[in-house]
Amino acid sequence: MATSRLSVFLSLVVTLSTVPVGSLASDPPLTLDYYSSSCPTVLEIVRKEMECAVLSDPRNAALVVRLHFHDCFVQGCDGSVLLDDTFTLKGEKTASPNVNSLIGFEIIDRIKNYLESECPGIVSCADILTIAARDAVILVGGPYWDVPLGRKDSKTASFELANENIPTANEDLRGIISKFLYQGLSITDTVALAGAHTIGMARCENFRARIYEDLGGSSHLSGLKSTCPAAEGGDDNIAPMDYVSPNVFDNSFYSLLLKNEGLLNSDQEMYSSVLAVQTKGLVRKYAEDSVAFFQQFSDSMVKMGNITNSDSFVNGQVRKNCRFINT
Ligand code: HEM
Ligand SMILES: *[C@@H]1O[C@H](CO)[C@@H](O)[C@H](O)[C@H]1NC(C)=O
Repeated sequence: MATSRLSVFLSLVVTLSTVPVGSLASDPPLTLDYYSSSCPTVLEIVRKEMECAVLSDPRNAALVVRLHFHDCFVQGCDGSVLLDDTFTLKGEKTASPNVNSLIGFEIIDRIKNYLESECPGIVSCADILTIAARDAVILVGGPYWDVPLGRKDSKTASFELANENIPTANEDLRGIISKFLYQGLSITDTVALAGAHTIGMARCENFRARIYEDLGGSSHLSGLKSTCPAAEGGDDNIAPMDYVSPNVFDNSFYSLLLKNEGLLNSDQEMYSSVLAVQTKGLVRKYAEDSVAFFQQFSDSMVKMGNITNSDSFVNGQVRKNCRFINT
């Protein structure tokens, strides 16, 4: 029986991984020196603004990293997540993974304003978000990586794809992995990128089911019942996903999974699911070896940032205001 479940899982993996998505061969490639003559100060400006943001509140690092993830998983990294709702455009901000949850947009607005005064009309919001996410990680102790640039901003957003493509807290391992494979990311990328949960907070709504399970005696998770009551109420109360070092980008998130202390069900599944053969080994490896985690995380972030939307290269633009398409 175990083998038949496994083979169902494996055939699912094979089917999904052949779906052609993401970057097409004809896309203009992203380059490291894209703005070197048109806006040579771009990296400096983003870094300076991110330093201020993270200094004023370290959670801002987490907010920006998550914004980038939610951008890239919907139509590719094209700034679609940043668009406000208007009479003619339904944005992604009210889609279920985002509503009451995704915050930090004003950090990107501030960077954009600064860049518009320095190099007007040059740097796309999608690129700003990608650079800002890299800087966010560094500023809380994580690894550095070079950021390929040259994305264009979309003139559209997709409420539907935001609902369909972004993984959710109570999803099982199969669901989570299939959403990453759909984006052209691997199982290794999935486990490494979920390591972003070493920073930031989750709302009670997203971990209630988890903390009322039988947790094998985690006093920490049981203790969260006062923050997150079993019945109605307290949905928006928050707790850190890595309670050991909530504001530090390190590998302690994986050690929590080894102790069945992952706050989100989706995270714990990577170690505890009956299907967690490959992912379990990766969780162990990253818990033991922070260098291996940092290397893979950097690589996987570049790969995620490379999910581009070929339509945005043809019909896209550099928005003047990240919240609205140019008129
Ligand atoms: C593996 C599948 C994933 C699932 C199911 C998932 C789900 C979630 C959920 C439910 C929250 C809490 C939101 C809330 O309660 O309002 C959250 C927060 C967060 N996620 Fe993920 N996520 C996943 C992968 C990722 C990836 C790939 C990244 C980035 C590379 C990321 C970065 C973050 C960050 C930084 C936060 C904290 C944000 C804050 O402090 O507000 N997540 N995620
Ligand atoms: C990302 O894209 C750049 C430019 O197109 C390419 O050089 C690089 O190899 C890609 N990296 C990954 C990890 O996919």
